[in-house]
Amino acid sequence: MGTGLLEYLWKPLSMLPPKVSYTIVHSSPGRLQKPLSRILASKCPESLKIRILNNTLTNPIGLAAGLNKNGNLTWLGDALCLGFTVVGSILPYRYKGAETKLLLRPTPLSAVNRLGLPSDGIEKVLQNINHYRPRYTRLVANIAGLRRNDYKELSGQLGEEFLFVEVNISCPNTEEHGTFEKPEYAEKILIGLPASQRYLLKIPHTTNRDLLVNYVDLVKKYGLQGIVAGNTSKIWIRGFQAGLSGRPIFHGTKKMVVALRELLGEDKIIVASGGVFSADDAIELLENGANLIEVLTVLLRRGPRAVLDIVEGVHRYLAKR
Ligand SMILES: Cc1cc2nc3c(=O)[nH]c(=O)nc-3n(C[C@H](O)[C@H](O)[C@H](O)COP(=O)(O)O)c2cc1C
Repeated sequence: MGTGLLEYLWKPLSMLPPKVSYTIVHSSPGRLQKPLSRILASKCPESLKIRILNNTLTNPIGLAAGLNKNGNLTWLGDALCLGFTVVGSILPYRYKGAETKLLLRPTPLSAVNRLGLPSDGIEKVLQNINHYRPRYTRLVANIAGLRRNDYKELSGQLGEEFLFVEVNISCPNTEEHGTFEKPEYAEKILIGLPASQRYLLKIPHTTNRDLLVNYVDLVKKYGLQGIVAGNTSKIWIRGFQAGLSGRPIFHGTKKMVVALRELLGEDKIIVASGGVFSADDAIELLENGANLIEVLTVLLRRGPRAVLDIVEGVHRYLAKR
């Protein structure tokens, strides 16, 4: 797999202030996807044909929500040989995000962000997606909102190109006095969603068993397909609430996966998201009950080669089984 050029592009980006490099990557024009995909193509391993929701994935590793927010970086999923690439969080309208944005590199294996769900809105996202049809990776949508009706509005606009839809309740952004993370608020969102076979609940990073039981009850009650466990871990920094991601949250993610597999039973899907930095990390989560694995901070901090190492390592492990 050739990541040479991608690695070469990533190096200077990793030396710029994080908000600058993130803005450059995050706002690259959607119409550049086709040429970029040609220039930065990788030779990916043969498909493992992972069956999920009556569909096939090339492998169980995906890019978590947060980078391909507007569907303009789907080519990157192909270049990194990822089984799936999450688009989002998508909002129904254009939204600038938090007044004071933070993006920090506190340690070599972590990131802190407080972006507040900036989005170009669903219309722009769909335009960007139409510029590039992925070859190796599959698209997953991650929807969020400031009001509960936002989720309902979005759900009506997502086409069949999305393998499944993550309902992101783990964002403290509601204008309705509280956060959608509270199970009673999350339920108000789920009541409004049309019956569908492709929703997964993206929950906060928590090992609180009572809370996990409540989320599992919601998944079962509303017939969702499973849970994305989880999001960033909350921390306070410079007087703001922000999210910590990367290796320091890996053990929490593993605990969540173990608890959720026990609570959900075998039929529901668990997508593990939080702190995966190596193929061994990913395999550990798969062995403890995860069906799919998402990565993000490893790409931001270690670069494309590290992500390809994860894909290759997991590929070797699954091919041998
Ligand atoms: C810069 C950044 C932006 C993020 N934006 C979103 C987002 O818009 N929606 C969402 O559901 N999660 C978002 N996340 C959380 C990630 O999807 C992921 O769940 C979390 O970072 C843990 O995984 P990691 O340790 O592999 O990064 C973001 C994370 C980072 C670092």
